[in-house]
Amino acid sequence: MHKLPIDISSVEKTEPTKMASHELQYLYDISVKIKPKILLESGTHCGQCSTYALFAALVENKTGILYTYEIHKPFFDAAVAFYIKIKNSEQAIVLKNEDFVLAVKNLSNDFFKDVDFVFLDGGDERADGGHKLPGEDYLKNIDISENVQSFKLLECRANDGTHVILHD
Ligand SMILES: C[S@@+](CC[C@H](N)C(=O)[O-])C[C@H]1O[C@@H](n2cnc3c(N)ncnc32)[C@H](O)[C@@H]1O
Repeated sequence: MHKLPIDISSVEKTEPTKMASHELQYLYDISVKIKPKILLESGTHCGQCSTYALFAALVENKTGILYTYEIHKPFFDAAVAFYIKIKNSEQAIVLKNEDFVLAVKNLSNDFFKDVDFVFLDGGDERADGGHKLPGEDYLKNIDISENVQSFKLLECRANDGTHVILHD
């Protein structure tokens, strides 16, 4: 098991997260093992939990770039404020204030050929941070949840062998 370059246990306490330390460690370890060229993440939140574990692995790998998507502007701004303090972070992370599903739809084939790892942790939460109830998307006439939409898109777009992990 690789050790995270920075201890994230204290970060975990300052940001609400549903991810436990062992899950963050797993994300880090698998990313060190896979050494992705392009990693996509849905649901940055404030960037200090799953995003940080993925980012830390790419820094350890000295290769790869994480494109992470957060739909809610205040969370996105908090993540930008966090990464701006880390020297040269832009070499390993690109923060996007966009809807993940729309963004993935619009990515070019040329870009997608290098996407080899996707981490999905977006759509179970509302923009205000509250949790969606099961079926809430259906009530709003959105036919399927963001996670299912993401899977369907990835089925069409992802290369053979692309790793896809869902947290829910
Ligand atoms: C469960 S939280 C993410 C937690 C984070 N990965 C962590 O480790 O703490 C889900 C996040 O996804 C965001 N979100 C919800 N729908 C989204 C979408 N369609 N595109 C991008 N972000 C989305 C929410 O605003 C929320 O910040």
